[in-house]
Amino acid sequence: MSSPANAGHMMAPAQLSDGSELVLRVMPLPADVNANGDIFGGWIMAQVDLAGAVLPARIAKGRIATVAVNQFVFKQPVSLGDLLSFYSRVTRVGTTSVTVRVEVYAERNPAQLQVVKVTEADLTYVAIDRDGKPRALPVRD
Ligand SMILES: CC(C)(COP(=O)(O)OP(=O)(O)OC[C@H]1O[C@@H](n2cnc3c(N)ncnc32)[C@H](O)[C@@H]1OP(=O)(O)O)[C@@H](O)C(=O)NCCC(=O)NCCS
Repeated sequence: MSSPANAGHMMAPAQLSDGSELVLRVMPLPADVNANGDIFGGWIMAQVDLAGAVLPARIAKGRIATVAVNQFVFKQPVSLGDLLSFYSRVTRVGTTSVTVRVEVYAERNPAQLQVVKVTEADLTYVAIDRDGKPRALPVRD
């Protein structure tokens, strides 16, 4: 399993060793906390959906829709103050769909910085036309 080369020591990098690229960084707000005092999983899922759409949108060169979340694992709780970095890589390009693996790392405890993986997910996006129907992906450069 890939991880930031400097996990546990320094800031989350711009790229993981497996080529996954940074597509989003965001810090949750107090409004995103659940009854346990951790960050609400639904908020994280929404961010993962946004982050996951970045590479498929580039490939589709137009409208896309999320068709499936094939896997979603919350490995560690996310806390207020964590800075989240979302990495994505394309795992499959089909006729109309693109599947990505998204991994989320939290930077926490700035005084003695730690980088921990908190979430990973596989999502599939479909290129759609003006009527919302699947359309073939354009030929890639
Ligand atoms: C996305 C949507 C247009 C696809 O239409 P569809 O008729 O179901 O599409 P198809 O069965 O032709 O499949 C289209 C592609 O999606 C893939 N796909 C469909 N269901 C899938 C699933 N459960 N997991 C992974 N891929 C899936 C197919 O394999 C196909 O990919 P390919 O062409 O690269 O081989 C339609 O399902 C839709 O509008 N869904 C709602 C999307 C939405 O609103 N998302 C936001 C969250 S609510």
